[in-house]
Amino acid sequence: MAELTLVADKTGELRMDTAAKDERYRDVAAMIRSSLDGEPDLLAGMATIACLLHNAFPYYFWTGFYRRVGPTRLLVGPYQGTMGCLEIDFARGVCGAAARERRTQRVDDVHAFPGHIACDSASASEIVVPVLDAAGELIAVLDVDSTIPAAFDETDQRWLEEIVTLLADKAALPVVSA
Ligand code: SME
Repeated sequence: MAELTLVADKTGELRMDTAAKDERYRDVAAMIRSSLDGEPDLLAGMATIACLLHNAFPYYFWTGFYRRVGPTRLLVGPYQGTMGCLEIDFARGVCGAAARERRTQRVDDVHAFPGHIACDSASASEIVVPVLDAAGELIAVLDVDSTIPAAFDETDQRWLEEIVTLLADKAALPVVSA
């Protein structure tokens, strides 16, 4: 269903003003909500969110999930963009801080963030949002990086925090063989 993907031009002006962001997020959130409605699989949900968000915004450079796979260990999940680091400990980077504190981290200049993990030196700013299940347990973080400084503001934070709640009732389903 290619017509369902909103595709932004990433070759021109990357910045969007608040009103334009808000309108785009409203459209993308509606698409994500209808795509995930009735789909119980967590991985399918993460892949769909990463794809729809990444394509919709010109300033998104890397968009994806790190899944919690141990008490303090994150492992890369579905993403769009250049090669991401595979593993991140809770003690490290912006993703680690979001997982540890269960609080969204918005970093205007990643080079000034102590312990930032540079998977791609093109990243200049980022936002990382914790993903919680229905019981309030941390199951993942959503990480979005941009090549422009201070790309993410309260509008991004508000919408991304709302979008990840759509994953709360999904489960990592086992593979079933016939
Ligand atoms: N920026 C992250 C690492 C992951 S990548 O950027 C894809 C961090 O410092 O947590």
